[in-house]
Amino acid sequence: MLGDHVVNPPVVLAPMAGITNVAFRRLCREQGGGVYVCEMITTRALVERIPKTLKMIAFAEDEGFRSLQLYGVDPDVTAAAVRMIGEDGLADHVDLNFGCPVPKVTRRGGGSALPWRRRLFGRIVSQAVAAAKPFGIPLTIKMRKGIDDDHLTYVEAGLAAQEAGVAAVALHARTAEQRYSGKADWDAIATLKQALDVPVLGNGDIWEGSDALRMVAHTGVDGVVVGRGCLGRPWLFADLEAAFTQGGDYRPVLPALGEVAKIMSRHAELLVDALGDEKHGCADFRKHIAWYLKGFPVGGDLRRSLAMISSLAELDDLLGMLDPALPFPADALGQPRGRVNAPGKVSLPYGWLDSRDDESVPEGAETDESGG
Ligand SMILES: Cc1cc2nc3c(=O)[nH]c(=O)nc-3n(C[C@H](O)[C@H](O)[C@H](O)COP(=O)(O)O)c2cc1C
Repeated sequence: MLGDHVVNPPVVLAPMAGITNVAFRRLCREQGGGVYVCEMITTRALVERIPKTLKMIAFAEDEGFRSLQLYGVDPDVTAAAVRMIGEDGLADHVDLNFGCPVPKVTRRGGGSALPWRRRLFGRIVSQAVAAAKPFGIPLTIKMRKGIDDDHLTYVEAGLAAQEAGVAAVALHARTAEQRYSGKADWDAIATLKQALDVPVLGNGDIWEGSDALRMVAHTGVDGVVVGRGCLGRPWLFADLEAAFTQGGDYRPVLPALGEVAKIMSRHAELLVDALGDEKHGCADFRKHIAWYLKGFPVGGDLRRSLAMISSLAELDDLLGMLDPALPFPADALGQPRGRVNAPGKVSLPYGWLDSRDDESVPEGAETDESGG
């Protein structure tokens, strides 16, 4: 449940900047039920009604439960953004991002650095919850375990968010220091679930429907949040739905290359539609190509040509050169895809770790950079 909205199956498409736009969400939504979160929006850009930002929050007419993620560091601006969402009817659910590990963000005290400042974190969340309440908008947070293993915040932050009245708490079970490396710590998700009464959503390293079932069994979470596993594989949401309805015996979708090519072509068309013209739509689609082809024996020249397409006709010509009968590569299953970068020391503002109760708003931490 998110507020009074039933989430069935208990699956959330993780917000991914540059990926989870209206086009990608449509492809995923067509596969299965769940909540499909929009790309992250910065609170300041929203309240200033920056045209590019307003375009990014486009939802399709048939998106029944419009879910939007906000990034903010200032309680007043965050509350103003939530109020605007309610007054203008922009979304049905708001999630706050406290997981971004990008150095440009943490260096200024934003994203995954912020929960360490517990009072400021508490104020942002409670003001956002209060602003959402009159509109009946459920407000959730998404966070990491903490800055690093010596500065874990997730249980304390989860309890504070619960106290503030959030509808659910999602945990990407890595520290900021880990970025996307190593394994997500599902034990931490179990610990959080034990500590809270509000629903807990687990996030990290769900590559298959079976991983979602394993995470639920291991942690007792109320739902799962799935990010990189669906890159180049929007049909993962069909597997997730099958896993939750049929249990471990579900049969995963294993499209042959011809089917994958059709989905690629459709994805590119939807992007052209969403971004307004062929040039931008095709340029945006290029980043998805390697994900769709992962594990298929497709030659380097063809891959390179595909990664440079500038029109839908060119894309379709090149896709026509693929062998449609090639079966889905079994060794691409259960494997990480997308970002898997190395850990790195977290850049923080001077003295950040010594000032947990400082409530001042970090300056310059509002940014378009994102991640989680
Ligand atoms: C390309 C990319 C962009 C991301 N952007 C965001 C974001 O804007 N907000 C956020 O909370 N998390 C963001 N994340 C993190 C994901 O939501 C998710 O927490 C993370 O990938 C771990 O889940 P996974 O193992 O299922 O991928 C991003 C991740 C990737 C790979």
